[in-house]
Amino acid sequence: MLQGEHKILTFDIHGDERGKLISLESIKNIPFDIRRVYYIFGTDSNLPRGFHAHRKLKQILIAVNGSLKIKVETWNEKAQYELNSPAKGLYLSGPVWREMFDFQNDCVLLVLASDFYNEEDYIRDKSVFNKMKRYTESDSN
Ligand code: TYD
Repeated sequence: MLQGEHKILTFDIHGDERGKLISLESIKNIPFDIRRVYYIFGTDSNLPRGFHAHRKLKQILIAVNGSLKIKVETWNEKAQYELNSPAKGLYLSGPVWREMFDFQNDCVLLVLASDFYNEEDYIRDKSVFNKMKRYTESDSN
C-alpha cells in the first residue's frame, strides 16, 4: 500500500476593497477531481474528532472560519498543523491518521474529497493502522 502524504497548500486570494475571494478548482489548485464537499461546524473545543485514516481518499481541509489543530501520523512520521486561514489547505492523501482538536472561534472546517463517502475506505482502529505499517516494512525488505 502507498505511503500517506500530508502538506500545506496556500491558495491565491483575489482581494479588493469589497473583500476577498478564493477559488478552488479540480486539478488546477486542488490536486484531484473533487467528488464530495462537506463541512464540520458547531464543534466544541474540548471534543476532538477524526481518529481515523483512509486507505485511498485524498482530501483538502480548510478552516474557512476560526481555527483548529490537527495531529497527523503516517507510517514513518508524525506532525501537527494549525489551520487558521481560509487561504491555507491541508492536503491529506491515503493512509494518514488524523486527530482534530482545539476548535476555536466558531470554526467551520471545509473538506474537499476525491471520492464519495465510503465507509470501506476508513481505517478507524489505530491498531489496524499500526499493523498495516508493519506489513509495509516487511514488503520493502
Ligand atoms: P465522522 O467520520 O465520525 O466524522 P469525523 O471525521 O469528524 O470524526 O462522521 C460523522 C457522521 O457523518 C458519521 O455518521 C458518518 C457521516 N458522514 C457522512 O454521512 N458523509 C460524509 O461524507 C462524512 C465525512 C461523514
